[in-house]
This record gives sequence, structure tokens and C-alpha cells, in this order.
Amino acid sequence: MTLKTDLQRIIKDILFPDMYVTVRQLLLLKKVFGRGKLIVEIGSFYGETTKRLAKYNRVIAIDPMLGIYDNRDKCSKTIDYQKKVVISKLKKNISKVNALWLQERSEDLLKRWNTPIDCLFIDGEHTLKGVKRDSEWIKFVKKGGFFAFHDVDYMFPEIKQFVEDKIVPNYEFLAKRGSLWIFSK
Ligand SMILES: C[S@@+](CC[C@H](N)C(=O)[O-])C[C@H]1O[C@@H](n2cnc3c(N)ncnc32)[C@H](O)[C@@H]1O
Repeated sequence: MTLKTDLQRIIKDILFPDMYVTVRQLLLLKKVFGRGKLIVEIGSFYGETTKRLAKYNRVIAIDPMLGIYDNRDKCSKTIDYQKKVVISKLKKNISKVNALWLQERSEDLLKRWNTPIDCLFIDGEHTLKGVKRDSEWIKFVKKGGFFAFHDVDYMFPEIKQFVEDKIVPNYEFLAKRGSLWIFSK
């Protein structure tokens, strides 16, 4: 990270603690996921997290860029108004790292996917339907691999409920930082 983007993200963390992935969350995610891994990220948006995870890993970033999928999610409106800008930022962000953006819905790709993965980062559609669907990707995480959910908090109560009811009892809870909850399989 450059000093400028570091500072921007730190200021954003203070002003908008629930927006996207914070610096502290990213540090934890990178520490747990490690290096040399195959990572699937569901919901890449600008690719800020994608770029950083892909510095020492291969990242498959899945995002259909549809806009208006959930009024509570700021990304939803931004994509609706500025789809071209979002896509060009994403492309720029991942241009120099080992990442591939697939412009499709995670649930559609899931039907054709057959490759085991090391790590999974779920940050797509923040509805109960969305998080339930995306958690089906966990079956592709190798034993001993890691997966994480973002926005497990009061802003998206159905995600919190789902993770607490269906994920916590069935997997090893590794760490949490704010709305980022990480598990191992
Ligand atoms: C909260 S943003 C992701 C932020 C990003 N992970 C970051 O760290 O900056 C949610 C993203 O999920 C994407 N999304 C919505 N529905 C999706 C679906 N069915 N499959 C994959 N991604 C989806 C949206 O287009 C949006 O870019």
C-alpha cells in the first residue's frame, strides 16, 4: 500500500467504520490467508481488497456489477450510477497482480465450478438469500483452508444471524475484527 492510500483508508476507517474492508480487517485477512494460495473473493467492487490479497496469492474475483441489488449496500447504488467507473477502477487495481475478475453472479459460477480452493472471502449480496447461497462455496474450501464473511454486524442482521446459527456451530471460529469473521474448515 502507498502512504497516500494507507492514510485514506485509515481516515475512512475512522469516519466510516462499516464501509468496505478496513485496514485492520485487511491485515488480519492477509495474515490468516497467508501466501501462495488460491483465493475466491465473492464481491470485488473496486477491487481494493482483491488487489491486496492478490499481491502474494492468486485471486478469482467474482462480481456481476449489476447495481441495485440491495438498497442498504452502498456499492449497489454506486454500481448503478457509475458502473463504468467502478469497472475501470477494478481493472486498474488488478492489472498488476495475480487476479482474474469474472463478471458473473457467484451462484451461476458455482454451478460450473469444480476446483478446490484454499481460501474464500464472502462479501457479495448482503441478504439472507445471498449469504446462504454464497456459503455453498465453502464446500470447495480444502480441509485446513480458511473462509471469511464480511459485514457480519447490525447493519446486515440477517448475515449475523445466519453466521451465528449455521456457521459458528459447524466450523472452527478463528478470529474476528469488527464485522469480519474468519473460520477454518
Ligand atoms: C460490499 S461490495 C464488495 C466490497 C469488496 N469486497 C471490498 O472489499 O472492497 C459487494 C459487491 O458484491 C457484488 N455482488 C452483488 N451480488 C452478487 C452476486 N450475486 N455474486 C457476486 N457478487 C455480487 C456487488 O456487485 C458489489 O460489488
